[in-house]
Amino acid sequence: MMLETEAEALDEADPLAAKRDEFDLDPEIAYFDGNSLGAPPRHVAERLAGAVREQWAGRLIRSWSEGWWELPERVGGRIAPLVGAAPGQVVVGDSTSVNLFKALVAAVRLNPGRDEILLDGDTFPTDGYIAGEVARLTGHTLRRVRTGDLPSALSERTAVVLLNHVDYVTGRLHDMAALTAVAHEAGALVLWDLCHSVGAIPIELDVLDVDLAVGCTYKFLNGGPGSPAFVYVATRLLGGFEQPLAGWAGHADPFAMGADYRADPGISRARAGTPDILSMLALDAALDVWDGVSRVAVREKGLALGEFFLRCVDELLPGTRVLTPRDPARGHQISLADDAARQTMDALIARGVIGDFRPPNVLRFGLAPLYTRYEEVLRAVTTLAKVR
Ligand SMILES: Cc1ncc(COP(=O)(O)O)c(C=O)c1O
Repeated sequence: MMLETEAEALDEADPLAAKRDEFDLDPEIAYFDGNSLGAPPRHVAERLAGAVREQWAGRLIRSWSEGWWELPERVGGRIAPLVGAAPGQVVVGDSTSVNLFKALVAAVRLNPGRDEILLDGDTFPTDGYIAGEVARLTGHTLRRVRTGDLPSALSERTAVVLLNHVDYVTGRLHDMAALTAVAHEAGALVLWDLCHSVGAIPIELDVLDVDLAVGCTYKFLNGGPGSPAFVYVATRLLGGFEQPLAGWAGHADPFAMGADYRADPGISRARAGTPDILSMLALDAALDVWDGVSRVAVREKGLALGEFFLRCVDELLPGTRVLTPRDPARGHQISLADDAARQTMDALIARGVIGDFRPPNVLRFGLAPLYTRYEEVLRAVTTLAKVR
C-alpha cells in the first residue's frame, strides 16, 4: 500500500481521532513537540478566563477557602489514575526539579545507614544536578550507572536509585517492574521520573510497589507552559516521608500559624508553599480531555504512530540512523541521528513541521496520541526527506 493511502486508512480507523478536535491546533502545522510542550485543549482558555473573573475577581480572598487551598490534592487525585495510584498518594505543585529534591532527600532519610545514591547514567540533566546537590548536602556518594548495569551496581550501600522511565533523548522505555524489583531486593528505594511517560504509557505505581515518583504536567498532560509538577509517595512510606522544604503548606495545621513544623500526616506533607492557582486551574481543565479515554488505546496508538514513522523513514530516508528502539520498549517519540540536526530542524520548522533538536545530533519527534495524525507523520518524514 502506498504510504499516503496507508496514512489515510490509519487515520480513518483511529479510535482516538475525534480527540484531535478538542485541541486548539493550527491546521497548517504538524506538531511533534507534545513531549516537550503539549498542545492546549480548546476549552482551557475560556475556563481560565472564567476562573479569573469569577474566582479571583468575584470571590477574591474567599476563594482560598472555597477550593483553592485543596487544589493540589484534588488535581493530584485526577492524575493518580493515570499513574496507577490509589487516592491520597499524589499531590501537584512546584516543578519536577523541586519535587526531585524533596523526594530524594526524603528517600535518603527513609533508608538510613546507607551512603550511596545511584543515578540513571543517561538521565535528563536536572535529575543529575539535583541528585548531585542532595548527595553533597547529605554526605552521600552519587554514582551514575547505565540501567542495564543496575543489578550489579546495587549493594547494601545503596539508599535510593533515581531512574527515568523513558529516556528523553532516545525514547527508550525502562522496565519499571524489573528495575523496581531488583532495587528492592538490594534494600534500596526507587524514585522514578515519569516526565516522558505520564499521559503516554499506562503506569502502575501501586501494583509495581514503586516507592516514589515525580513527573511534569506540561508534556503529555497538556497542562501549559510551566504547569505544576506532581509527586507520588506510596502510602506505606508517607509516615516517614520527611522532605526538606518544610514550608507551611505541608504543615498539619497551616492556619494555626504555629512556631514549630509538624508535617501533615498525608500526601499534603509533600507541599511547600502557596500553590500556583492559575496554572493549576489550567491543568485541571486540561485534564478533562482524559475523561473516558482508555490508557491502553493511548498506548496502542503511540506505538502505532511510532511504527508508521519508522516505516516512512525506512522507505523515504533509507540509511537514516534511528536512535529509538524499534521494539515496543519505547515511549512516544522517534529520535533520528543527523549530523546537521540543528539546521535540519530549523528547516523543518520553517516548513511547518515542529519537532525539536537535542545536542549533539538528535532530531526528536514527539507523538501525542490524543492529537497526532498519521497523515502528519507522513508529512514530517516527507518534508525531512526534502530538507536533508
Ligand atoms: C525527564 C525530565 N525530568 C525533568 C524535567 C524538567 O523538570 P522541571 O519541570 O523542573 O523543569 C524534564 C523536562 O523536560 C524531563 O524531561
